[in-house]
Amino acid sequence: MKILVVGNGAREHTIVWKLSQSTKVKELYTAPGNAGTARISQNLDIDATDIKSLAKTAQQKKIDLVVVGPEMPLSKGIVDHLESLGIPTFGASRLAAEIESSKVFSKALMQQYNIPCAKSINFSDYAQAKEYVQQQKPPVVIKADGLAAGKGVVVAGTIDEALAALADFMQSKKLGAAANQVLVEEYLSGREMSYFAFSDGINVVPMVSACDYKRVNDGDRGPNTGGMGSYSPPVFSSAALQKKAMETIMVPTIKAMAQEGRPYRGVLYGGLMVNKESVKVLEFNARFGDPETQVILPRLKTDLVEIILAIIKGKLSQMKIESTDDVCVGVVMASGGYPGSYKTGIPIDGLHDVDKDIMVFHAGTKIGATPWEVLTNGGRVLTVVAMGKTIAQAREKVYENISRIKFEGAHYRKDIALFKS
Ligand code: AMP
Ligand code: GLY
Repeated sequence: MKILVVGNGAREHTIVWKLSQSTKVKELYTAPGNAGTARISQNLDIDATDIKSLAKTAQQKKIDLVVVGPEMPLSKGIVDHLESLGIPTFGASRLAAEIESSKVFSKALMQQYNIPCAKSINFSDYAQAKEYVQQQKPPVVIKADGLAAGKGVVVAGTIDEALAALADFMQSKKLGAAANQVLVEEYLSGREMSYFAFSDGINVVPMVSACDYKRVNDGDRGPNTGGMGSYSPPVFSSAALQKKAMETIMVPTIKAMAQEGRPYRGVLYGGLMVNKESVKVLEFNARFGDPETQVILPRLKTDLVEIILAIIKGKLSQMKIESTDDVCVGVVMASGGYPGSYKTGIPIDGLHDVDKDIMVFHAGTKIGATPWEVLTNGGRVLTVVAMGKTIAQAREKVYENISRIKFEGAHYRKDIALFKS
């Protein structure tokens, strides 16, 4: 098969790496990709949201399957367009992807179908939202309806902070049309878990879950980022918890989407809050997580191409999806200054000095003047991943190796998957 992967993050590098292990794959392409995907596939210089050019190239190259990584092309209808041209595509359709691209839609769905989630009210009028927030007790959560690249949620510790977020979203229009509607949501406490399940629209099969570290600095301090590290499985997860998440959240959601005429095909990512026995949805995403993909796909034993084909053919019920019991830890190396401003074009040294069993997934990287020179090209630069029998073992391997990779200003958290005994 000829497969094209759309996207340029470490998530997409991991997807390409996993697909490359399938005996079904003959040619692999990534659009636009990075220096990592360039080593194991052919990069195509097409933006992930340029649906027309992607479709044209897929036709020219007679691509058999397109796999879409990020949310933006999904929300713009890449799957609908490619499938209308007869190109099999893995990902949620535009209407199905609204489970991520419209928090107003996903909240209404959860409320209608009794899927456990935080209580919330949505507003399109600033004055009304302000009045409502003033009546709340902190903490309170302010969320923009639309896609905002991680900037659409403010967990406000005080009412003043909540009001400031409202003003930013609804008056100053900092997020543009993404905040035409805003949700004011109940604060949930607990531990967060990223839960992944595949669906062909009817059948739902769980994958392993993971935890993401969103703040830039150790101890969960500093601003939010796209994710600074991840590990799988979560230390607090149990078979009973996984079952509960499947039965009360994932299965009913897939059923609800089918009933709403938006059959969900692809991978559904539930951002869940776990508190003792309770599991509630914080948000849904219509795709694999980043950096979670970097720690869940290495654990997957089943051929990813076969899973994807089963989903596209509506035959997921015949599929057995297996993952290893080995655990996985991934640490993100970021550019100095990220998530604020940072320099790019800095040479990365030591990429080949890591142990053979260490996986280095690229995000913001590009090939330099010579094919063997790799330069930084973004905020999140690499995810360094190790597997082990225990979290402590995987963690030790990651940190021993990450120190061999160097670039000026490199920053990474030292406390990913660190648990005090
Ligand atoms: P979301 O994009 O909805 O996942 O929100 C981003 C982050 O904000 C989540 O990963 C949580 O850490 C936090 N968050 C979102 N909603 C809530 C909530 N209702 N209560 C507490 N924290 C939340
Ligand atoms: N790990 C967060 C995300 O992928 O949205």
